[in-house]
Amino acid sequence: MDIINIYDKSLYYIGGVVRDKLLGKESFDIDITYIGNAIDYCSKFGRVIRENPDFGTVRVDVDGREIDFASTRCEIYEKKGHLPTVVKIGCSLKEDVMRRDFTVNALAMNTETGEIIDYVGGQKDLKDKVLRVLHDKSFIDDPTRIIRGLKFRIRFGFELESHTKKLQDEYLANINYDMSYKRVKKELIETFNLNSQRAFELFVSEGIYKLVSPETFELPKINIENLIKKYPVENVWLCYIGLLPDLSRLDFTKQERKIIEDFQSIGDVKTDFEIYKAFDGLNLESILLYGIKTNNIKAVERYMDVLRHIKISTTGEDLKNLGIEPSIEYQKIFDKILAAKLENPDMTKEEELEIAKRMDYDN
Ligand code: CTP
Repeated sequence: MDIINIYDKSLYYIGGVVRDKLLGKESFDIDITYIGNAIDYCSKFGRVIRENPDFGTVRVDVDGREIDFASTRCEIYEKKGHLPTVVKIGCSLKEDVMRRDFTVNALAMNTETGEIIDYVGGQKDLKDKVLRVLHDKSFIDDPTRIIRGLKFRIRFGFELESHTKKLQDEYLANINYDMSYKRVKKELIETFNLNSQRAFELFVSEGIYKLVSPETFELPKINIENLIKKYPVENVWLCYIGLLPDLSRLDFTKQERKIIEDFQSIGDVKTDFEIYKAFDGLNLESILLYGIKTNNIKAVERYMDVLRHIKISTTGEDLKNLGIEPSIEYQKIFDKILAAKLENPDMTKEEELEIAKRMDYDN
């Protein structure tokens, strides 16, 4: 099978790559499993980038592509919601498959013959576009799978099979908050970077947001997907997740934290001057979050389409040349010029300086 240039009867493509291949989509992550110890066996396929003996995995550069080779392994979730513990490396393919999240992610394909190994009905579910967990404890073991389920529903247009939906509801009614929020964050990023209003609607209506923020949350009226299409941002996911009332469980980077804090500290804005002063210099994400939260998209549009292009020409140097001593008064002067310029964007620099002169005179 021509996913990569490896044809070996004892190696199987596994997980997402098989799902994607059967869906006719390209995979970026290629996982290959070896029934036995992959570190010993797979290092011959190229330059070893790194290996992790605890998990029996090895990353190899195969013809310029980084491929993850894994040993078949059995895992148990000693601590629910956290990374599982590997209990056996080199188990059977069936045992390896049974530890996985959804049937459609539990397919294997022989790299030489292309034969599909399907122990759990994954091919039928793939055809029926259904997401089904492999066992009833799946979400208890790993609640990030609920967000993964949402991600796959959006990405592939799948539905949750009814018993799986019931298990999701049961878990969300009784969440164990002692979980790895690093993994939760990763799945939130992947899901909401898809920029899907439907994802957010399901996230809210099914109560998935409670994994992060227990307090009741209502869907904002604004269509966030459309807003982001109009005003593209780098951190798409943050324009959704940043709206949740309780973000204390997520570990944000410095930049992400700044976006959230800036957004939360914007007060009520009505006039052009207030909008300009509140939004100027902020990340666009903060501005969008504010507009969504306060249902004030008009202010966002006014700033983005018009106000942000308006800049005053007067500098501190100009004021000094007018004989005005540098002081905190400068800010007042700049603000006065700005207020006038927002009303009359065609104002010349001379007209700006007139305002400064008159102010100085007034004072
Ligand atoms: N897996 C799982 N439970 C998780 C995460 C992953 O069972 N919480 C299993 C699934 O079999 C999955 C495989 O590990 O297919 C690889 O995981 P990952 O690379 O995260 O996902 P992919 O399915 O490859 O999807 P993507 O296309 O998003 O990479």
